[in-house]
Amino acid sequence: MDMVIRPRRLRKTETLRKMVRETRVSASSLIYPMFVIDGEGIEEEIPSMEGQYRYSVDRMPYALEKLVQAGVSNVMLFGIPAHKDECGSQAYAEDGIVQRALREAKRQFPDLYYITDVCLCEYTSHGHCGLLKGDYVDNDPTVDLLAKTALSHVQAGADMVAPSDMMDGRVLGIRQLLDENGYVETPIMSYAVKYASAFYGPFREAAGSAPSFGDRKSYQMDFHNRKEGIKEALLDIDEGADIIMVKPAMAYLDVIREVADTVDVPVAAYSVSGEYAMVKAAAKMGWIEEDRIICEMAVGAFRAGCGVYLTYFAKELAQYIKEGRIG
Ligand code: PBG
Repeated sequence: MDMVIRPRRLRKTETLRKMVRETRVSASSLIYPMFVIDGEGIEEEIPSMEGQYRYSVDRMPYALEKLVQAGVSNVMLFGIPAHKDECGSQAYAEDGIVQRALREAKRQFPDLYYITDVCLCEYTSHGHCGLLKGDYVDNDPTVDLLAKTALSHVQAGADMVAPSDMMDGRVLGIRQLLDENGYVETPIMSYAVKYASAFYGPFREAAGSAPSFGDRKSYQMDFHNRKEGIKEALLDIDEGADIIMVKPAMAYLDVIREVADTVDVPVAAYSVSGEYAMVKAAAKMGWIEEDRIICEMAVGAFRAGCGVYLTYFAKELAQYIKEGRIG
């Protein structure tokens, strides 16, 4: 055959394929989301997220130890309080679950990097991400509470805060309060492009944070929209966001790519609880190969343009990278 261009030449051996790879992944870009819960002696598996647990503060160190051993150095903490109320007061309580977990974690594992999810939904009795005015989440008073929550996390030792509520102006509100209190160096990772998604179902079971009425569509984004995602990303950068997150990941790779091409800050993608649960369930049925699917999903997100990847499979991925299966 008269053919000079043969793409298969570069696919011949594993060594060569690795040499010419376009996407590189590293365990240092992974963030592991973890649930901490009020109480003692608790290490309970989350039914909808097999292999993921809720840890009380006394049990948490064992989980952190496993992360360190796996080579994962970044953690995102979510808190599950014993008491919820209308205004989510445990979110910004000095002895709240995340605040206590942070102090203990920092004491025992000072070299891990701690990011906290800043939101009210795990702390409100109604499960919405802010204060209610009738049936509607009231934006501006909510921003004040989110800023207060972020500040209390940083005071307890958080290295970075990550607001996930989708209120307008919350990045600015948090930035200003942190700065007024001298925390000018603490970065904000904004869940800027966060869609109202059924993929959060298992998380809401894990955190007991499903809204008791209605849904989150008046604050989280409509999944039909792409340009709106760019608008949210640019707005949050103007308000001082240091990292922009797109969430979920797998069904939103086009959005990750577009945001990554548009902004000049690092882009994170969050492979959420529903993505995790689907992989686990299908693997349990013997219908997919779990490890290969985990690798493909992660590389897909990086290929789409994210530089930081949040996943419940962080430990597994770190292992696969170490083994040279991806990387
Ligand atoms: C809190 C929050 C949620 C997630 C991250 N932060 C739930 C939600 O918005 O309902 C979802 C994470 C996941 O599904 O893994 N607002």
